[in-house]
Amino acid sequence: MADADSSDRDRLIVALDLPDLRIAEAMVDRLGDSVGFYKIGYQLAYAGGLPLARALVGAGKKVFIDLKLHDIGNTVSGGVESLGHLGATFLTVHAYPQTMKAAVAARGSSGVKILAVTVLTSYDDADLRDAGYGLGVRDLVEARARQALAIGVDGLVCSPEEAAHLRGIVGPDMVLVTPGIRPAGAASDDQKRIMTPAKAIAAGASYLVVGRPITSAADPKQAADAIVAEIAQARA
Ligand code: C5P
Repeated sequence: MADADSSDRDRLIVALDLPDLRIAEAMVDRLGDSVGFYKIGYQLAYAGGLPLARALVGAGKKVFIDLKLHDIGNTVSGGVESLGHLGATFLTVHAYPQTMKAAVAARGSSGVKILAVTVLTSYDDADLRDAGYGLGVRDLVEARARQALAIGVDGLVCSPEEAAHLRGIVGPDMVLVTPGIRPAGAASDDQKRIMTPAKAIAAGASYLVVGRPITSAADPKQAADAIVAEIAQARA
């Protein structure tokens, strides 16, 4: 089996979808050197977790702020400017053209890369119909990817099932981040479009977001190490 190095390790982004700062800090401590990249989303950010982003960056970790911004352009710009000061590597917005344009214009010199969320991985065609969309998942993802590329967004969050197709559309330089990752045999939870870590990397994903398969595991460090080893093997 291939030996994992930091370039394999940093392709794993652990979602800290945890209820408070104390529990999140304990998880980061437990994961130690096994994990170099963390995602802070709604649950932790709205429970006082944003200062952890700054602390993690100070400790040499990378941070993905997953607040999926979407509002009028002026408000999106203000949010991107404020979040840009945290030192994060990635920040998500929903893939609506106005929102993406405002975010790209506002990232300025902060160094934060804007990722657009095409279609949430918990959505299938029936969910999109329920939400009033005329396009199915595949067509909507493709249309939004083309818009993101034209606007100058840095990367996309997409289902691993879409990664190979999207790589063909957006070319080699755009970052593709895929949640909906489940090691073989793991519970799918509420995700509907899932793939194993090795298959997602082989499909062209640049980074994998993994939450519950690590944070709810009996041994989170071991679960993270196993995923990094799978990433290394897929890249070897
Ligand atoms: O626990 P699990 O591995 O399912 O966590 C996946 C993470 O990725 C969650 O934080 C979720 O909000 C996020 N995400 C997603 N689908 C997207 C974008 C983000 O599941 N399209």
